[in-house]
Amino acid sequence: MTGDPYDKTFQAIAERLQELHAAINRVIEAHGKVCSKVKALDERVSNLETSIDCLIDDSCYVAGDEVGFNAQLFRKQIFLELLGSLDFDIIVETGTWTGNTTGFMAENSGLPVHSVEISERFHSIARMRLKEVPNIHLYQGESSEFLQQLSVNPSLTSQRCFFYLDAHWYDDLPLERELEIISRSWKDFVVMVDDFEVPGDPDYGFDHYPNGERLDYQTYRKLFDRLDLKAFFPALPGSQETGGCRGCVILASSGPISERLETLQTLRTHT
Ligand SMILES: C[S@@+](CC[C@H](N)C(=O)[O-])C[C@H]1O[C@@H](n2cnc3c(N)ncnc32)[C@H](O)[C@@H]1O
Repeated sequence: MTGDPYDKTFQAIAERLQELHAAINRVIEAHGKVCSKVKALDERVSNLETSIDCLIDDSCYVAGDEVGFNAQLFRKQIFLELLGSLDFDIIVETGTWTGNTTGFMAENSGLPVHSVEISERFHSIARMRLKEVPNIHLYQGESSEFLQQLSVNPSLTSQRCFFYLDAHWYDDLPLERELEIISRSWKDFVVMVDDFEVPGDPDYGFDHYPNGERLDYQTYRKLFDRLDLKAFFPALPGSQETGGCRGCVILASSGPISERLETLQTLRTHT
């Protein structure tokens, strides 16, 4: 947007938002704990900052090491090894945000990528940023409702699907609903859940929520067992991962697909 008459205005708004964000963080530090209203305000300011930053100088998706899968190079390797080993027909992402991983997955797979985002603002930003990238279908809505809609379409459920579940930011955590729908509707699939604990490796970060919920193995193990899902984790120690260094779990039904996952270099089972 260099030279754009709105550039200076956007820049000024971004600076004001950064000041507001810093002020909120000072309140949080001073009080030692985060009251939910302050946290919600902080979340809104940081979402606005992201949106303004996209408008100022990131209005178009451009591939790069820092772009997609939290800028984690090993995570990208996991995705590429999965792509190379299993003949996926389609990719579904929940939680588009600004579309970085959507763009990465579409460009590297050549497959149709369907992605859903609950925030109208981020959905519009992703549409703007990804308009030149082919094979991308963006939807605005709630992730489990979206998966439910896909799940009644036999031409989609008969396809081998890679799911990237990343719609967890707010108090309502859709992960259990998402996994229930996928497991009962698709036969051939692999799921990657971002922000999930890598058991035994504290260098990988994972999500904890103010209501006490945690994306960890102990919490989700029963659900995985009930849905007959086998869990795999990154084979690389977190201390060697790049970027955001977030953990993840990769899930597949018992049978040929999980047997294939057992042979991959980038994955390990729970030890
Ligand atoms: C961590 S960000 C996703 C990042 C993105 N997948 C990427 O790799 O660049 C989480 C996104 O999920 C969205 N989200 C949260 N809950 C959701 C839900 N129930 N349905 C759809 N989107 C949701 C948030 O608004 C946010 O944009």
